[in-house]
Amino acid sequence: MTQLLGTQSPAAVGGNEGCFEIASVGSGVKDLAKGDWIIMRSTGFGTWRTHTLATEQDVLKIDNKEGLTPIQVGTVSVNPCTAYRMLRDFETLKEGDWFIQNGANSGVGRAAIQLGKMWGYRSINVIRDRPDAEATEKMKQELYALGATKVVTESELMDRSFGERVKEWTSSGPHRVKLGLNCVGGKPTSALIKCLSQSGHLVTYGGMSKQPVNLPTGLLIFKDLKFSGFWVSRWSDAHPVEKKKCVDEILEYTRLGLFKDVPVETVQWDWDTPESVLKEAVQGTLSGFRAGKGVLVYGDT
Ligand SMILES: NC(=O)c1ccc[n+]([C@@H]2O[C@H](COP(=O)([O-])OP(=O)(O)OC[C@H]3O[C@@H](n4cnc5c(N)ncnc54)[C@H](OP(=O)(O)O)[C@@H]3O)[C@@H](O)[C@H]2O)c1
Repeated sequence: MTQLLGTQSPAAVGGNEGCFEIASVGSGVKDLAKGDWIIMRSTGFGTWRTHTLATEQDVLKIDNKEGLTPIQVGTVSVNPCTAYRMLRDFETLKEGDWFIQNGANSGVGRAAIQLGKMWGYRSINVIRDRPDAEATEKMKQELYALGATKVVTESELMDRSFGERVKEWTSSGPHRVKLGLNCVGGKPTSALIKCLSQSGHLVTYGGMSKQPVNLPTGLLIFKDLKFSGFWVSRWSDAHPVEKKKCVDEILEYTRLGLFKDVPVETVQWDWDTPESVLKEAVQGTLSGFRAGKGVLVYGDT
């Protein structure tokens, strides 16, 4: 816990990521100037605040902010970087290879669809069934527009015939379902695991259903499946140089219009914003079927 200026008791500031504009720099600072945009080098800094003091080592400068919005910069370092690393660091996917993921409409899922498409990978994307068929179809179309190869619902995935459908899609060539990305857990993840090819690899990065991931003994032994976890905070701390490269590359895709923003719901934060607004916004992240990712905006965007 950090003792903050002006608080009577110890307090901590939440917030893993965000885009800050430099208001002023100390006399010894050479590579940053007033007006520059920066993001935090590591997660856990506490970004839900209007102002902060930081050292040069705490921050990464956005070299070219031209054509970018603060929301694009403020949301690049966690979800898109997570998708990027999971697609690149666990299996060597070649053009035409498949990956399968759940939570496909999440921030990470949307980033994986788009990066995968750019790199020539094909994707099977699982979303939860929406309350009505029209809403489900609308969500499917949204993900197809981002570059998804196939989009299916959890109930389609759980159907006994789903394995045959995957075979039909993938068996015409040498390309296999080498990688699975999991942020859900529970039974839908057990069904997803069955779709992986021989020696396939499941990477777990979230547990939205709060259910455990069951490792199927038979598939471990006879299919030689691999299971890993990924946490972008740990990766960022261990690979600061690669993190900057990853962020710069994704922001370049954004600038070129190749990488679309995740839908967001902004919450304007001013000095007199009631505490209940913040609580509601944070609570919203725990419920499903959200229209967009909650982004706190301090000042103007
Ligand atoms: N390990 C890491 O480094 C890392 C990095 C980034 C994110 N994450 C984790 O990845 C997950 C997704 O994060 P995000 O920011 O991309 O999410 P997000 O944009 O807020 O989307 C949340 C996703 O979770 C789904 N969901 C919500 N409740 C669910 C439930 N009970 N069962 C199944 N799915 C449910 C939502 O589906 P509906 O639309 O159907 O509700 C949506 O696809 C979170 O668990 C997050 O903590 C981990």
